[in-house]
Amino acid sequence: MRSTLLAGFIGLAIAASTSASTSEQTVLGPALQNTNTNDHIQNSVKPKRRPLKGRFLHITDIHPDPHYKTGATFDTGCHRRSKDKKKGKKGKGKDVDYSEEDGQDIEDEIEIKGKDKDKDGVDLAGKWGTAVSKCDTPMSLVNITFDWLKKEWRDEIDFIVWTGDNARHDIDRSLPRTTNEIFKLNRMVVSRMLDAFGTDIPIVPSIGNNDIWPHNVMAAGPSRLTEEFLRIWSKFIPPDFSHVFERGAYFSAEVIPDRLAVISLNTLFWYDSNTLVDGCADHTNDPGALQMDWLDVQLAGFRDRGMQVWLTGHVPPHMGYYYDNCYLRYGDLALRYQDTIVGHLFGHMNIDHFFFIDVDELESTPVSRKSKVKSKKNFAPLTANLSSLPSFESMLAPNGPVGIFGAGDTLKDELKKDFEDMPDGKDLKLKDYVAINVAASVIPTYLPGVRVFTYNISGLGEEVNEDAFYKPHQLSEDIDEEDDEEEEDDEDNAIEVLKKNRRPGHRHDKKRKKGDCKKKENEDKPHCVFRRLPRYYDKNSPSRSNRALTPLGYTQFYLPKINKQSNEPPQWEIEYTTYKKDVLVPHPSNLTAQSQKWNQPPPIPLNLLPEYNSDQSVTASKDKLEKALKKITPWRMSDLTIPNYIKLSRKLVGDKGMWDKFQEIM
Ligand SMILES: *[C@@H]1O[C@H](CO)[C@@H](O)[C@H](O)[C@H]1NC(C)=O
Ligand SMILES: *[C@@H]1O[C@H](CO)[C@@H](O)[C@H](O)[C@H]1NC(C)=O
Ligand SMILES: *[C@@H]1O[C@H](CO)[C@@H](O)[C@H](O)[C@H]1NC(C)=O
Ligand SMILES: *[C@@H]1O[C@H](CO)[C@@H](O)[C@H](O)[C@H]1NC(C)=O
Repeated sequence: MRSTLLAGFIGLAIAASTSASTSEQTVLGPALQNTNTNDHIQNSVKPKRRPLKGRFLHITDIHPDPHYKTGATFDTGCHRRSKDKKKGKKGKGKDVDYSEEDGQDIEDEIEIKGKDKDKDGVDLAGKWGTAVSKCDTPMSLVNITFDWLKKEWRDEIDFIVWTGDNARHDIDRSLPRTTNEIFKLNRMVVSRMLDAFGTDIPIVPSIGNNDIWPHNVMAAGPSRLTEEFLRIWSKFIPPDFSHVFERGAYFSAEVIPDRLAVISLNTLFWYDSNTLVDGCADHTNDPGALQMDWLDVQLAGFRDRGMQVWLTGHVPPHMGYYYDNCYLRYGDLALRYQDTIVGHLFGHMNIDHFFFIDVDELESTPVSRKSKVKSKKNFAPLTANLSSLPSFESMLAPNGPVGIFGAGDTLKDELKKDFEDMPDGKDLKLKDYVAINVAASVIPTYLPGVRVFTYNISGLGEEVNEDAFYKPHQLSEDIDEEDDEEEEDDEDNAIEVLKKNRRPGHRHDKKRKKGDCKKKENEDKPHCVFRRLPRYYDKNSPSRSNRALTPLGYTQFYLPKINKQSNEPPQWEIEYTTYKKDVLVPHPSNLTAQSQKWNQPPPIPLNLLPEYNSDQSVTASKDKLEKALKKITPWRMSDLTIPNYIKLSRKLVGDKGMWDKFQEIM
């Protein structure tokens, strides 16, 4: 205990003196990694050394659209002025490739530059992108995003999780996408990534439903598609995984060798819009089932090596999106390997939120892992109804953003109900829950966003401290129901909050009778699966308590002003963070002092904090800073462990102000 504290202070001293880095740790570019064995570091090329910062980037759904035109109307996907709005003389659009030449009025287009409505009050595409529209991401927005990432983050992060959709949508009937265009756009984004971050930061991409043609449908490989992505991502896919990738377009990468891995999942094999696959029934050759088998083996292997893993991919593991038996198997694996999985990161939705997968819900999923039946429970697709699209202003009005698209409403209501229905007090078992993070997208379905996570790097310094790392125990304690009693003490303050916000009358309050596992119809219910296969729960594992590799929090960055028609590029700003105020600027009364609690580089580089100015006299800026920090710290979580997610969900449904904020953030 004392030595940890001491190490903390030493870390603090170093951090204060260099003002940025604490620890040195070998990070290999993924291309150099041999990820399947333990002894790969010695004889490979001498790796580059970068100081670990304890931060990583999650970026998703970039959707670049080179056909995007400033001043175009929304109904063309922001490619042209639509015919029915504008009749007029032919334009002189030399660089404009109009496929519906008739009725184009390009002079108008030039004329309206600097406005976001035409003279009839019709909304038009903005220079930097068009928030809350169906339009994709203009190159100008791609550029300012990568310019900012390069400038502010190149030296501040350890690795990148990048969860797919790097091509435009297929919404313009007169300009259909082609396979080649999709590959080209993906290559373009890869080159932007490499330009921004170089090859010494591991980058872990995953495939999105719009990275293929036609979208959503993908068969098992090897195929032209998997071969081509293997080439496009050659710098990112460890060579050991090239055969696996050719077959399924998924792989693992050790972002901190022997310590931390990111698994890139191909969620399209589980996605129920993919009509070329057939779900995840056990003991089949369905590509979805084979990927689950592979994932099981990967997780077991990483667990044996005492490593921690992030599961990442495009389409989130939700029963609204996955084939039921895929959802069930994902849930089984997430719960079974909860001492090895530090978290789950997904994209696709373009809505910032989190949700839980929990045992009760899996118990009530109506199918078995063996069946191929799909129950219909889909959300409405997350796209705007163009003919009824309201103005940007009305979208941002109170109750605006999320309520507009049908799916947002459904999702919002569903989340609220889920959070409310969680059991109270001692009935809630931490081992029954995992939290899934879904990040906001770069494409401005609402406002463009990227996210920077922090994780605990204690023990990863120059002198590796093995004691800092969680060692999984060998036997599952989960076979009997009795051990549930043990959990009470580790639910400490989460439980306090739960009790405070106790509301009567949940369906979970009644202890549901669980089915007899000897009966065939129950054998795939989680309570029976966990009897056959160990569920590795440990309150000391990094997903449950703060220690080396535990996710500590994240900062959501966004571009609030993209609809301002200005030639000045809009600026990336902090939308909110999950942190407590005092870890951002540890001693607001003394801006030069480092945190004692936060013994690693600060969550957000100080120059990116609002109202932070190290030159200002402390007293003059203190109030302003306090206010600014308060505004960006609505959740005040001490870390992103499951107890704290449960606590947050409780607070969200227990406090109207918090729920309103949550909706706003979505
Ligand atoms: C974006 O950046 C690329 C490469 O730097 C440049 O060629 C292109 O003109 C830029 N596009 C826009 C719209 O700013
Ligand atoms: C889109 O909105 C229009 C106008 O509100 C409505 O008539 C139409 O049915 C909607 N279409 C869909 C697919 O919801
Ligand atoms: C990281 O974990 C260690 C325990 O291993 C703890 O002492 C330290 O405070 C944690 N760091 C942060 C920033 O929470
Ligand atoms: C602020 O903290 C630094 C470093 O701990 C210390 O040297 C300095 O004296 C402090 N300043 C004030 C005004 O307390």
